[in-house]
Amino acid sequence: MTNSNETSALSISIDRLQQRLAELAAIGAIEGTEGCARLALTDEDKAGRDLVVTWMKDLGLDITIDGIGNVIAVMPGEGAPVMCGSHIDTVRTGGRYDGNLGVLAGLEIIETVQGAGVTLARPLAVGFFTDEEGARFAPDMLGSLVYVGGMALEEALDIEGIDGAFVGAELERIGYDGSAPLPGLVPHAFVELHVEQGPVLEIEGITVGAVESVQGISWTEVVVTGQSNHAGTTPMHLRHDPGFVAAACANFARELALDIGHPHVATVGRIELHPNLVNVVAASATFTVDLRNTDEQKLQESEQRFMEFLTATADAEGCTVETRTLARFEPVIFDETVVDLVEQTATSLGHSVKRMPSGAGHDAQMLARVCPTAMVFTPSVDGISHNPAEYTSPEDLEAGTNVLLHTMLALAET
Ligand code: GLV
Ligand code: MN
Ligand code: MN
Repeated sequence: MTNSNETSALSISIDRLQQRLAELAAIGAIEGTEGCARLALTDEDKAGRDLVVTWMKDLGLDITIDGIGNVIAVMPGEGAPVMCGSHIDTVRTGGRYDGNLGVLAGLEIIETVQGAGVTLARPLAVGFFTDEEGARFAPDMLGSLVYVGGMALEEALDIEGIDGAFVGAELERIGYDGSAPLPGLVPHAFVELHVEQGPVLEIEGITVGAVESVQGISWTEVVVTGQSNHAGTTPMHLRHDPGFVAAACANFARELALDIGHPHVATVGRIELHPNLVNVVAASATFTVDLRNTDEQKLQESEQRFMEFLTATADAEGCTVETRTLARFEPVIFDETVVDLVEQTATSLGHSVKRMPSGAGHDAQMLARVCPTAMVFTPSVDGISHNPAEYTSPEDLEAGTNVLLHTMLALAET
């Protein structure tokens, strides 16, 4: 059993953490920026995975890879581990902190504990989960969803990406189609450190977020089909224009979010017109809508109102519509005891702390289905994320990682 005097003074090395963040960010680096592009299961993702696995091996951890490519590394020891982790895939215009911080902070914490030579009552573990972003293969949090048994492996392997590739074939291609059992090892508790990716902590001058919930997510892909025609000769009243329907829906999504009110958000992030030419009324428009709210009822209301608008607008324009759900997750409430522990740990380390919801989706929301779970947020400068300009100061990274360290040490004693 650990003597708390042995662990209370422990502190991570911010230089070592920063060094690993920089080395990982060099893979898929976006020229002229601090950011990187490692879409899930691409060659860049493979190279990032290989580097992190090398670091896990260097620390002497027991490493397993499951059929969806999740990698879990556990310190030798008895009992269910206290686990942290996140993801190392990025959006195409990613920053170096989103996801990567939660994984590399886990390595740093394990190295710190090993270096101090303390023996814990239960082991620590760190994992990275496949395709958290969902930018190439929907839904987001795919790896952690399969890890907790929320989707069958066969169904996940069959998912087709935006480039026509399949999850299963890509996993095989990059050599991360492992054989560890699914659903995966159930941790004693799970805590994910992540950058906030929003402006709240910075605006309020607070160092640590104790995340108590994640808002619900609804992603839909819409395909509108009309009549492609000559842009100069087709009178306005005779058009069946999918481009117009897509634009009207994007406009309506914003009005809807404003009408429902904060914290509702709505985004049309992808619109593709075919044939996408200056003088051709489009034949089809494919676009996505991302709706989020902390309240399930309001999320459902927004889905219904959006569909009504879409159908009515397409009908009036003489277009047809097909929709496909890409992701649908209800809001998640984290474990009160673990959230309290994060809050108390931050306070005891002398940091300002705020209980808050998460606007972004996270692997922790899936792990919450199987074990006590919470998250630690650290501020994002200007609230910017999913952008290579994403930045968190070394001081804030250090504070957040030390909060994660001491939260995990306390959980290892329970
Ligand atoms: C996933 O990371 C999301 O919140 O979009
Ligand atoms: Mn993330
Ligand atoms: Mn992200």
